[in-house]
Order: sequence, then structure tokens, then C-alpha cells
Amino acid sequence: MALIRLDKLLSNRTSHSRSEIKGVLKKGCVRVDGVTECRGDCKVDPDVQEITLNGKPLVGQSHVCIILNKPQGYICATEDRMHKTVLDLLPKELRVKGLFPAGRLDVDSTGLVLLTDDGDLAHRMLAPKSHVPKYYLVKLTRPCRPEDAARLAQGLELGDGTKCLPAEAKALEGVKNYALICLHEGKYHQVKHMFAALGNHVETLHRVAVGGMFLPEKLGSGACIEVLHKDVENMLKSGNFGSVYERIVTNFSSYLINAGQ
Ligand code: URA
Repeated sequence: MALIRLDKLLSNRTSHSRSEIKGVLKKGCVRVDGVTECRGDCKVDPDVQEITLNGKPLVGQSHVCIILNKPQGYICATEDRMHKTVLDLLPKELRVKGLFPAGRLDVDSTGLVLLTDDGDLAHRMLAPKSHVPKYYLVKLTRPCRPEDAARLAQGLELGDGTKCLPAEAKALEGVKNYALICLHEGKYHQVKHMFAALGNHVETLHRVAVGGMFLPEKLGSGACIEVLHKDVENMLKSGNFGSVYERIVTNFSSYLINAGQ
């Protein structure tokens, strides 16, 4: 994990104000690996160092990671004047300071959103050069044909000339007009624009996985669970189209219910 300033960590993990944090540091109430530390600008790694305040380890020392099943009508932002945000769906005890959605789903899209206070993790998950695959279960107006999948696999050009990276897609066996599509980048409204370029239309879009991180089948629409930071790190490294496809086909009805469809 990236290093973080000690005063910032204390601010994230406690209810103390900035001036109170200055005070507790000055008084020698904070220890890093057993040694009193008074400098707020000292860089620490809470995943490997033990940080105590008044002799007690900081609660939730490492970063928070939450998987949310976003319903329609909520936006992926920390505040908004028009819509409710995904933060409004979290129970109070999980609403720690600095939490934000890592990546966006449209207001009418549903499914997996990772919320974290770890900017570094979010960057690694979203940066185009990381190529972390994102999987979407889509309901289309007409079927995704093998020739559509072939064009997506070549790297589609959108109506406005934007070139997309190759994407994998396959119609869901035995379920009319549903398909799984996997992207390795995240342009604005990308899935909708890609199917539009193929003369199709996305009626509903539900994100089911990012890398090897799945939306749990039992997580209802609007529900969330806290997951371990190290598990998220590991999950981002794994996952492949074939295994995600099999899992979606096997659990299709759960995904539909949890997408609110
Ligand atoms: N692509 C879209 O078009 N919408 C989303 O919400 C996510 C990917």
C-alpha cells in the first residue's frame, strides 16, 4: 500500500478534528511501531506498521473496501445536487471519511461498484494500462450475433470515430437478447455506444465482475459487504471471460433478481 501522512491517517480513522490531531501528536499520544511519533507529516504504512493512539491500535488500520450492488437511480459520486449517491446506500458504520466509488456506472446501470478510501488501489483498478477487465451483463433489443462479437473482438470504431480496444462478448445461451461483454477500458457510456455502433440498443446494464472480483450472487440490489483490502488486490489480478461466462449462465436468475429485473 502507498505511504500516507500520519495526520491524514489519524483524520481518516478517528473522529478527531485536524487541530485535535495536532494536539494528540504534540502530547506524544501516538506511537508508530512502539516509538512515539509527534510529526504529522511523517509517512507511514498502516498495512505493515502498528499505529496506536493512547495505547490502542487504530480501528480499521488498513483501507476500507466495500462491494456494493448499485440499484438504478443512484449516481457514482460522493455528492450530487440532483440524485442520491452510492454513499447514501451504506450503513452509517461503513461511511468512513474519504470513501469514494472506484469507477462509474451510469445512473440507470446496476451492479458491482467498489467503494474504497484507497486512491492508489482505485487508480490501479481503473488505469487503462492496468487492463483490469470489467464484465457487464446486458439486455439488448436484439441478439448479439457471432458477427457482432467478431467486430467487438477486432476493436470497434464508434460513431464519433473513437477507437475502442478489443472487447469480448457472447450471447447468453438459452436467454433471449442477453449477452456478457468484457471491456479492458472505461470510456463514457462505452457499452451503450458500442452496441449502438452495431445497430443494437442496451436496455439494461448490470456489472457483474471486475477482474476476478464478482458481485456475490446473494447480494441483493442496494446491499453492500465489506471485503478485505488484500482480497481485492488479489481479485484484481485474476478472472477470465470463460469462467465469468460460466458463472453468469449458472447463476443467471440470481443476477437478474439482484439487478432488480
Ligand atoms: N458502459 C456504459 O455504457 N454504461 C455503464 O454504466 C458502464 C459501462
